[in-house]
Amino acid sequence: MCGICAYIGEKEAFPILKEGLKRIEYRGYDSAGIAVLEKEIKVNKDVGKIEEALKEELEGKIGIAHTRWATHGGVSKENAHPQFDCFNNIAIVHNGVIENVEELREKLRNHKIRSETDTELIAHLIEEELKTKLPMEAIRSALLELKGSYAFALLIKGEDKIYFAKKDSPLIVGIGKGEMFLGSDVAAFLKHTNDVIYLEDYDFGYISKDREAIFNALSGKKASRRAVKVSFSPEDVEKGEYEYFMLKEIEEQGYRITDMLNSNTKDLERAIEEFDRIHIIGAGTSYHAARMLKYLLEREKGIESDVMISSEYKFFKRPDKNTLVIAFSQSGETADTLKAVKFAKERNAKIGVITNIRGSSLDRISDYSVYLNAGLEVGVAATKTFLAQLVITYKLSKRIDGEEIKRIINYSLREENKQVVKKFSKEIANKEHVFYLGRGLNFPLAMEGSLKLKEITYIHSEAYPAGELKHGPISLIDEDSLAIFLVPKDETYEKTLSNIQEVRARGAKTILLSDVALDNSINIAKPKDPLYYPFAELIPLQLLAYYTARERGLDTDKPRNLAKSVTVE
Ligand code: G6P
Repeated sequence: MCGICAYIGEKEAFPILKEGLKRIEYRGYDSAGIAVLEKEIKVNKDVGKIEEALKEELEGKIGIAHTRWATHGGVSKENAHPQFDCFNNIAIVHNGVIENVEELREKLRNHKIRSETDTELIAHLIEEELKTKLPMEAIRSALLELKGSYAFALLIKGEDKIYFAKKDSPLIVGIGKGEMFLGSDVAAFLKHTNDVIYLEDYDFGYISKDREAIFNALSGKKASRRAVKVSFSPEDVEKGEYEYFMLKEIEEQGYRITDMLNSNTKDLERAIEEFDRIHIIGAGTSYHAARMLKYLLEREKGIESDVMISSEYKFFKRPDKNTLVIAFSQSGETADTLKAVKFAKERNAKIGVITNIRGSSLDRISDYSVYLNAGLEVGVAATKTFLAQLVITYKLSKRIDGEEIKRIINYSLREENKQVVKKFSKEIANKEHVFYLGRGLNFPLAMEGSLKLKEITYIHSEAYPAGELKHGPISLIDEDSLAIFLVPKDETYEKTLSNIQEVRARGAKTILLSDVALDNSINIAKPKDPLYYPFAELIPLQLLAYYTARERGLDTDKPRNLAKSVTVE
């Protein structure tokens, strides 16, 4: 999704902003831009990658920057941010979607509107208000007219400040020494400071080089916000010796597992025991973790729950004060999940959030937060955060043997085991369709393996419970098909073997993940407790997707059309 970075201080803003944008590049974008304020506001923006879009340096110590992922208006230089008012006195970068665009266009019909964006209208609206008001008043009046979501940073000619506002889209203040930052994500300024303020909805104000001023747009009163220290390190946003973040983050699982196992799940565990009704939600990879939790709670504790994709939640569920909603979201910002949680909260449900980002929007509205302790994840395809989610689902459902889980993870990461997976990726790289099949607890892993493959290799893949194959999907199986089976030696083993025969009998190729030496199989760790097989399957599945993407010559960190944190519904 779109990214924001802003800087005010003693240094040249342009290189800091360009570097900041690169750190949030992983969110996905199609154009980039920077505006710097000296006497005039100067701008540099274009479609394409940051390097191509921002070739020409601009001088000045105050600036705002943006990576855009088109929503309102196509991908073009005119639609790239920063956007301006009629006279280039106001420059704005904005994340989110303004909903009352038609009404605003009508109101601003005398203005010179140059782009198709909703963002530009905010600049003109403020221009209008500035005719009669001082900047802070003008911005507040404009905010009260906006419907929709926004996080923006704004320059006004003649003002040594960067103005900002936030509603339903993340925005964070970074506090440095004699310099201040804004970012849609801490990665935008993590290199410079770990001291941050997570802004709340309706916050607006400004940063100057040595202070911040934050007010509430509804009341007009000063808002008191506490600065917190984030635990991420600058190395989290460096690739180091790795070509891709995805591989770096897969390998990191070997040592991050210790922190993941140490996460504190006590309060949520207690809440799970206490509530009559439990709803578990998530999107993408997080939905797979949600399913896992449902399975485990029922199997291990006899606790029933419902699981649902976040964006579907409000169409079906009617949570109340006796409901606990558990939301998985590594970013803590996914709009679909946030909206579902807000809906539940309005109906007096209690909220448990499992996230990697302390202070994120979901964390802030949660009653029981659990942190993934995975370190900042940069690769778009979730890897280490899914392992951490998996760890949490087990911790919430049973006593776990941490040492055994560490052993399994490190077994999967052994060089010789990685090389085996790499060899198998060559069999996948030229396929058009792939099936992932597994039963029981292996099914959410099959779903995750399949999602990883489609996300980064663009190969069509689908996951089914292996028993479901005969009820439809088998009609698609022929000599060109490839089916990847999860066949650990657990209670599902015999039945899955029969399903493999059904597929092979139709001439399809199969790749098996098993701790038994089966024909054409990738060897996985053999856990002491069969319940731990998902941990043994996870890393081979991640690597299979990674190596297949590399085999196809693809950039695994920035898959087409995807964004790390999807902040629109
Ligand atoms: C996006 C990403 C997915 C991710 C999903 C949920 O769609 O492309 O890979 O799983 O969001 O993200 P969350 O931050 O809520 O876990």
